[in-house]
Amino acid sequence: MTRATKFLAAMLLALPAIVCAQKNSTPVIAIETDATGLYLVVDELCLKQSHYGARVADPGQFLQVRDMARDAYPVYGSGNPNELALAITHGNGNVTTMLAYKSHRSWDDPSDGNIKWTEITLEDTAYPVTVLLTYKAFACENVIQTMASVVSRQQRITINSIASCYLNLKSSAYYLSRLYGAPGFESNLLSERMSEGIKVFDSKRGVRNSHYDNQSFMIALENPAGELTGEVVGGALCWTGNFRMSYQVDVMHNCYVWAGINPYQAGYVLLEGGRFDTPWMALTYSPSGKGEITRNFHDWGRKYMLNEPQRIRPVALNSWEGVGMDFDQKTILEMIDRAADLGAEVFVLDDGWFGNKYPRNDERNGLGDWDINKKKLPDGFTKFIERARARGIMFGIWIEPEMVNPSQLAEKHPDWIVKAPDRPPLMHLSRQRSQQILDLSNPRVQDFVFDVFDGILKQNPEIGYVKWDANRYAPDHGSQYLPPDMQGNLWIDYVKGLYSVYERIVKKYPHTIIQLCSSGGGRVDWGAMGYHHEFWPSDNTDALQRVYTQWGINHFFPAMATSAHISQVPNHTTSGVTPLKFRIDVAMSGRLGVELQPRDMTPEELKTISSAIAQYKTIREVIQLGDLYRLTSPYEDNFASMVYVSKDRSQAVAFCFVTKYSPAQDYPVIRFSGLDPNRTYAISEINPGKSNGSPSVGKSFTGDFLMKNGIRTTFWRACESAVFRLNAK
Ligand code: GLA
Repeated sequence: MTRATKFLAAMLLALPAIVCAQKNSTPVIAIETDATGLYLVVDELCLKQSHYGARVADPGQFLQVRDMARDAYPVYGSGNPNELALAITHGNGNVTTMLAYKSHRSWDDPSDGNIKWTEITLEDTAYPVTVLLTYKAFACENVIQTMASVVSRQQRITINSIASCYLNLKSSAYYLSRLYGAPGFESNLLSERMSEGIKVFDSKRGVRNSHYDNQSFMIALENPAGELTGEVVGGALCWTGNFRMSYQVDVMHNCYVWAGINPYQAGYVLLEGGRFDTPWMALTYSPSGKGEITRNFHDWGRKYMLNEPQRIRPVALNSWEGVGMDFDQKTILEMIDRAADLGAEVFVLDDGWFGNKYPRNDERNGLGDWDINKKKLPDGFTKFIERARARGIMFGIWIEPEMVNPSQLAEKHPDWIVKAPDRPPLMHLSRQRSQQILDLSNPRVQDFVFDVFDGILKQNPEIGYVKWDANRYAPDHGSQYLPPDMQGNLWIDYVKGLYSVYERIVKKYPHTIIQLCSSGGGRVDWGAMGYHHEFWPSDNTDALQRVYTQWGINHFFPAMATSAHISQVPNHTTSGVTPLKFRIDVAMSGRLGVELQPRDMTPEELKTISSAIAQYKTIREVIQLGDLYRLTSPYEDNFASMVYVSKDRSQAVAFCFVTKYSPAQDYPVIRFSGLDPNRTYAISEINPGKSNGSPSVGKSFTGDFLMKNGIRTTFWRACESAVFRLNAK
């Protein structure tokens, strides 16, 4: 029994009404998937976590080793000295909470045999506060979602901090892999051994939350994990606002993982009868390396999270890098034609099409006024939609409906803008584009944001694609809607308000493709992704950086949702110049698109792009719906390679990108994974260069051979690349 448990037991003994009723008779609470299990026991009324990892054959035995279990959801007031899952200030000012196990129940999801629910009820021993821990187990995908809820029957409480998930791990060492970056430099992978102490990764940027740290992780136990070997726990917090992930390792090598909404400036006031739900945390476990964690997340995301998860994503041509806001009707009509000529399936008109009194000719004006700019586009969208229809492609647009800058909306509703009272708004901050955030904690603002989307779609029902952007982070604080003593609720209610808008939109427009964008990849989390088809990983479209960005983000998010566009050189963000073939090949490893003005390309280049698009269409099902196996990491070698394998293992598509010149001039070797060892695969090349990417092109090998020996490529210089197709005979 730990000191904390002894303390709690002693305290509970002082409460005879509850203790007398308890004889430690509660069975093991087993939350299981096909191959994993989270096991909880009740010890002297205290809920404890026994194990998370591989599923055990006879969980009943955890009752015999209850003393090995550790607090499953420790609260401030329980005596646990570690990071705590919950801290509440009760109505009378008492800042302590003490939770006793009351009951639990499990049930099969009535509409999906793959899902099982478990709910555990804990009650405060002195105050009318109930804490519910809810678990949703996805059997085949080996994912367990977990969340906590507080139900209060006090007049008013303040939730000072609340974890979605509190996980106890036990190992001699922990190796954390996570993503970090900055705008234009998103999703770089970092792996490190965790030393004793507490490491915190978080976001305090509100609306944009994943440019810097991401709310997803992998933790390898005992040893650094490989792609196919090692025990790994994966987690992803489904929350589009301020988050906090902390990892505490003590001298006894216990690890406590805390994941949830960032408590920073967010004491949440809950009024009588209120219920507070945390966001979901998704957990998964692999006994065989990081690759399986990725595939579990991808499978779960493609079945349960993304909009229209099995719909093959179309090839898009987006206008942003091609023409910016400097266009007229003729330019766009011509771009639609050229997009269709290239084989794109949707044309997306990005920023710059709206605002009349405050025309959106640059980023300083117009947000809030979602009326089409009559000067630039005298026929509105009508001509574009007609032209797109005539050419057999979809028409799409960009919006940023949560934001405002000088506009008629700002004149009419200054009270809808987030702003600290008695101070000028923080407009001087760099990269904030002279814009402010609308207060989505206010239901009227939620209606407005819904109406922006709904209004445009009602008038133009043929719009098939919407890019939803959010380009300011949240350095100010101040809701003019919430009362002064509930300002801590702002950034939480904002996200919940945003989700309720998303919910209405997706319900009404389930087949409108929605791309998630926030100054590039500032909002890539499984909360927002639950309402989108795809995301824009970064404004940095330099293919060399994209190798790393896509490598990182695809640890948690699938290729079908990863928009990857071929752009012009020198690159808009980096000024880097990379060969067109390399740009195409890197973009093909995600959801292929184009981000340029076709008019500026040579006929030869256009021919190469259109041929690549046609070839992509023949392999995209494998890339978008298949299993990803990472083969060689660009962080560990001079090249990256990976293969997507169809679920029936009859087809595969492999990519190889050289990131650095190899001084040894050694050809990268692709040693495959995930193939069927007993089948024979014919190797061909997609988007070939002047010479074959491998001497093995045109030959056939067994899966066994390809996984044990592999094939070699024919290049070694930076930004050389190849895409191979494998077809089982
Ligand atoms: C953001 C997006 C870009 C583009 C611009 C438009 O920066 O990330 O892709 O849409 O806004 O202003």
